[in-house]
Amino acid sequence: MNQLELIARLKPETAKIDAAMRQDLASIGSPRLKEVLEYAIFNGGKRIRPLLLILAARLCVPQAGDDPGSGLYRLALAYEYIHAASLLHDDVIDHAVSRRGRATANRVWDNTHVILAGDFLHSRAMWLAGSLGGVDCLAALSRATAGMVEAEFLQLANAEEMSRSRERYFAALTGKTGLLIAAACESGAIFAGAGDELRRALAAFGNNLGLTFQIVDDLLDYLGDEGKTGKAVGNDFQEAKLTLPLLLALETAPEPDRDRLLQWLAAGPEERGAAFHEARELIDRAGGFTAARRQAEALTKEALEALAPFAGRPELSILQALTAYVLKREK
Ligand code: IPE
Ligand code: IPE
Ligand code: MG
Ligand code: MG
Repeated sequence: MNQLELIARLKPETAKIDAAMRQDLASIGSPRLKEVLEYAIFNGGKRIRPLLLILAARLCVPQAGDDPGSGLYRLALAYEYIHAASLLHDDVIDHAVSRRGRATANRVWDNTHVILAGDFLHSRAMWLAGSLGGVDCLAALSRATAGMVEAEFLQLANAEEMSRSRERYFAALTGKTGLLIAAACESGAIFAGAGDELRRALAAFGNNLGLTFQIVDDLLDYLGDEGKTGKAVGNDFQEAKLTLPLLLALETAPEPDRDRLLQWLAAGPEERGAAFHEARELIDRAGGFTAARRQAEALTKEALEALAPFAGRPELSILQALTAYVLKREK
């Protein structure tokens, strides 16, 4: 299945996810909360996590729920809500100015509004997961959410200590992005009533896909086109985050380049902001971007290998195409 066929297949699904979300949020009483959530949710997100949950369920049981009012779509919303909540909070944490091509919600309103809106989505998500997916889905989602918070703390510590440990980078990556995508895939299997082996296979697929997804995100933070990503480039460097391209460059750059990168990391955010283009050049010269992409490719392979138990299933080609998209994505 090529990218165009993939888009054609997924478009009706994302429309149904959005319809289910609109229906679900219609009952909110507070007009301001509604406004913040509308702004944060209906603005061009890719809906990767709910899509994965639905596709994972269909991989196990092809006829799993078709109607946006069905339990499957409503369960899938939980994963978009946690994601949206994490982005609302993340943009405060990261001092981000743009998201999905427009001002971050914390700039339109303020931190109070977005923190509360994120909290609302959290509790709504837990309720959906528990009531539609049962205790196993609730456990998977809660584990992922707790892991995301721990990963943010680890990321802070990594930046503060200028940690150059790949292990710590991958631990942060797993917590930030791997766990939630793994939980979405596993929850699809749980909803479909799959056994342990298929649940584990989908969780492993989701984890590796999530790691790929976040490495590509880290590459786009340096190399992306803001018109496509809808986010400012250079934010990770400005926030002194040692993401994979920079980590790998620090391992291979000649000493003067390495010292320069380290000096910037020890400096303030304004100095790093001004040095961004030069830093990107040094990372490129050291092969940091190429090496990071290679790691992403290797993880994609692992993700696909995890799907071996589903060989021959009709939905498999969609997940394979989606995996290829995650690696190639520009937004
Ligand atoms: C962005 O996620 C944050 C990361 C985990 C890298 P997405 O790229 O899935 O964001 P949207 O929802 O499509 O905007
Ligand atoms: C997004 O992480 C938040 C989570 C994954 C929890 P980042 O801060 O790395 O992603 P963007 O670039 O802001 O979307
Ligand atoms: Mg962040
Ligand atoms: Mg961020």
